[in-house]
Amino acid sequence: MSTKHPIGVFDSGYGGLTVLKEIVKALPGYDYIYLGDNARAPYGTRSFETVYEYTLACVKQLFEMGCPLVILACNTASAKALRNIQQKDLPHLAPEKRVLGVIRPTTEVVGKYSKTGHVGVLGTSGTVSSNSYPIEIKKFYPEITVHQEACPMWVPLVENHEFESDGADFFIKNNLNNLLAKNAEIDTIILGCTHYPLLVDKIKKHLPSHITILSQGEIVAGSLSDYLKRHSEIEQTLSKGKSLEFYTTDSPENFDKSASLFFGKEVKSTHLGW
Ligand code: DGL
Repeated sequence: MSTKHPIGVFDSGYGGLTVLKEIVKALPGYDYIYLGDNARAPYGTRSFETVYEYTLACVKQLFEMGCPLVILACNTASAKALRNIQQKDLPHLAPEKRVLGVIRPTTEVVGKYSKTGHVGVLGTSGTVSSNSYPIEIKKFYPEITVHQEACPMWVPLVENHEFESDGADFFIKNNLNNLLAKNAEIDTIILGCTHYPLLVDKIKKHLPSHITILSQGEIVAGSLSDYLKRHSEIEQTLSKGKSLEFYTTDSPENFDKSASLFFGKEVKSTHLGW
């Protein structure tokens, strides 16, 4: 049994690395384990039951690897699995452990950015159909109206390294035009998928410059830092060895090639079978 008690960061594939990068920058002292379920990605078009089943299996795996705290750095998993895991599974599985998502931190701050009260959300089909963003934003900012657009092609573009291609421009422009056609007053757009920061240059290119684009990495990192200050009972269980381990359910060679684009540094991963 490992003596490390790392923070576990989970995503269906590479996207969560954009979040991990910011978390490590903000909280460099801890040990971290990243798990990408690349063998079963993308999650974005899968059913509620499937996303829940896959996410729970990965959370259990991270618990077994010694993580007292797991961040679902995936909007689709946060939208479709987090609530069940927190309310149904944790109490009997590991009542002393915690699982947190990426949707709530973003919805808590969005009101600081929008002046018109019209916010756009871009996400996978799963995240959009779950309505998690409109529901959560209403709790903090009842005056805000949320307009959503599902972008089913964006994750495959990123996962297949096509995010700098002309094909990417076609799909990005199309989805942004659809979103802006829903309301001309949208002044803030949430990138509600952890893969989308890789597309940010192209997104900016096709959006009017007055629109604020919110990426989740820094927001989630700030929120985690606050959480650890408020929850010393969890903070004290985390080991502080500054280590970083990467695991993938698919080929480590492929993972390492792509992961550096998301993480901004060389990555050396290990295969994890079930
Ligand atoms: N990165 C995931 C998210 O934030 C989506 C990737 C997928 O579809 O698997 O929603």
